[in-house]
Amino acid sequence: MEQAVAVFGEALVDDFSSHRVVGGAPFNLARHLAGFGLPVTMVTRIGNDDNGSLIRNEFDRYGMRQSGLQTGDGEATGSVHVEVGADGSHSFTIVPDQAYDRIDGAQALAAVQAAHPGIFCFGTLAQRDPASRAALHALLDQTDAVRFLDLNLRAGHVDETIVFDSLQQADIVKVNETELQQLFQWYCHTCPDTVNMECISVDTECRAMMHNFSLSALVVTMGVRGALYLSADGAHVTDHGKGTSECFVDAVGAGDAFDAVFLLGRLRGWTMERTLARANAFAAASCGHAGAVPQEVSSYARWLDQWAQEEV
Ligand SMILES: Nc1ncnc2c1ncn2[C@@H]1O[C@H](COP(=O)(O)OP(=O)(O)O)[C@@H](O)[C@H]1O
Ligand SMILES: [Mg+2]
Repeated sequence: MEQAVAVFGEALVDDFSSHRVVGGAPFNLARHLAGFGLPVTMVTRIGNDDNGSLIRNEFDRYGMRQSGLQTGDGEATGSVHVEVGADGSHSFTIVPDQAYDRIDGAQALAAVQAAHPGIFCFGTLAQRDPASRAALHALLDQTDAVRFLDLNLRAGHVDETIVFDSLQQADIVKVNETELQQLFQWYCHTCPDTVNMECISVDTECRAMMHNFSLSALVVTMGVRGALYLSADGAHVTDHGKGTSECFVDAVGAGDAFDAVFLLGRLRGWTMERTLARANAFAAASCGHAGAVPQEVSSYARWLDQWAQEEV
């Protein structure tokens, strides 16, 4: 029986004036994991509104268990208002005081204890309210799972004390280069101002930070340049990917797609070289469709088939 994964955090709806798209980094990750056939418990909270129905439909479409899905009567399902500028740029308003800010700790604990996950994933946005933060801590206090943190810092929604506490709770941390630079500014005395991941001082700074927060591994994604993995036992593995996919649409959710295959590789015992190459390939492909998850759930089987063929 494959190990289960629990994912804690926001499921929300990105509201473009013309259309709505279901998102939330943790929910993107959970859907990808379910798409790859892993038993996933998504711990989140929605309201009884139209956006809540859109999220429920995604649980159904992906065949995900709903034991961690809480519904609060009269609460607003999470939403983000997206405005697209004349130049195609996006500006986001992350709406405060949403159902995902009120995740109930006792209900969440019951769902996660029943699932007994081997990996527990969390982020920072759903910790902005003390209620959900307390629920997360109740889960972290009782779980013996490996704790995977994707910081996913959102401009205007960054609270250093929450980041510090999250790093202390985590075993494996995933950041992008911008987030790594922010960590250097907060936690390293010398902060390299351009992040060049090949540079020795960056490796040294990363390792100092890993040591200070007792991390077993740090993963840094570098957009089109791929990703780097450092582990406390000395591993340093890089995969530069294959460049931008021919039909680049947007990089929404690229990090979440990367995380899913990174964790899949860990659960399946792939080498780190293979894991990073496959995570980069899947994340690059996710830049070829609009939104964070593919339109067709059947597309995951094609990836699994391709990877299985590489192994024979
Ligand atoms: N323009 C791109 N072309 C190809 N792959 C990309 C591109 N942008 C992101 N990716 C893939 O997605 C991963 C995560 O992207 P990145 O931007 O580093 O993180 P995040 O989405 O968390 O900000 C990268 O490691 C890479 O595999
Ligand atoms: Mg990210």
